[in-house]
Amino acid sequence: MKKVHINTSRPYDVHIGPGLLKKMKDLLPEKTLAIGAAGGIGVLITDENVNALYGHGVEKEIEELGFQVLRFVVPSGEEAKSGEWYLKALSFLAANHVSRGDVIFALGGGVVGDLSGFLAATFLRGIDFVQLPTTLLSAVDSSVGGKTAINLPEGKNLVGAFYQPVAVIMDTDTLDTLEPSVFADGCAEVLKYGMIWDGTFYEELKEYVLTKPEHRGDVERMTSVIARCVAIKAEVVSQDEKDKGLRNLLNFGHTIGHSIEKNSGFGISHGSAVAMGMVVATRAAEQAGICQAGATENLVNTLQDYGLPVETEYGAEVLKEGMLSDKKIEGAKINLILPRTIGECYIHKMSTNELGTFLLG
Ligand code: GLY
Repeated sequence: MKKVHINTSRPYDVHIGPGLLKKMKDLLPEKTLAIGAAGGIGVLITDENVNALYGHGVEKEIEELGFQVLRFVVPSGEEAKSGEWYLKALSFLAANHVSRGDVIFALGGGVVGDLSGFLAATFLRGIDFVQLPTTLLSAVDSSVGGKTAINLPEGKNLVGAFYQPVAVIMDTDTLDTLEPSVFADGCAEVLKYGMIWDGTFYEELKEYVLTKPEHRGDVERMTSVIARCVAIKAEVVSQDEKDKGLRNLLNFGHTIGHSIEKNSGFGISHGSAVAMGMVVATRAAEQAGICQAGATENLVNTLQDYGLPVETEYGAEVLKEGMLSDKKIEGAKINLILPRTIGECYIHKMSTNELGTFLLG
């Protein structure tokens, strides 16, 4: 098992390893355990898929801590991160007299984590929540760092709050039930950490391809890979919790990726879109002489080894239009995250007029 401390305005620990959903008694903070011991309410929020796999077992575990458990199940997929499901969940909490002294447990991937976190941030002006991520993508990214959100018809994550959980417990056993394509999606985020921060880590990931069937069950490797990603994220968010500067680095491949997702009517998954976005950004940077020659070919080969897509059907102008509706746009400037080499990215402020030409390479 590995533990990573997150030093934000409200510090907490991320625990990673096999069988951890059965060890919550040893991992949750004293305050949370005390709420359970006093018979407080534990609201278990999950989605239909995860509920079928783990809902009952996790409910029992939370009950054994003394909590009176209420389970709220949302549909699987992005649909649950809507105003409609947010309001339904708020009504559920209110109708069941959940108080500020109770706890929300978010069991699932990024959608469940983001929705539950935003509920926790806003219901009664804030109640404690615990993240129990069950996908690789949520383990290495969305469950850590306190970004919570729901979508609007006008765009993804347009309503949200920075609100840290009291603990993150990542049971690596839950990765066993992920479809290969969903696991590969998470690997795009894992490779992102290598690209932005740690070239040695990237080389290790290139050498030992996590998506190979014979590597999927390597619990020790997965535990240390997730812990490395979380440690990088911890370093970044402890310096820039509110995403004013350094934290932008975590968006490498994302602004272009969001445009790809949007242009596809969200038919292309987040991880696949990020993979393509990283290639577009690296190629453009390499052609502009910003990034070391050969980095694009290296990245393309690695992503392909992981079974991830590397080319997008959308041209520079279409990508640009999608990027301009991103919430990170500041006036006539956009922050692009560009690599100098594998293992080092920086924030490049670019005028939106230059963007199309730059992306063309
Ligand atoms: N997912 C990017 C961040 O947490 O800042």
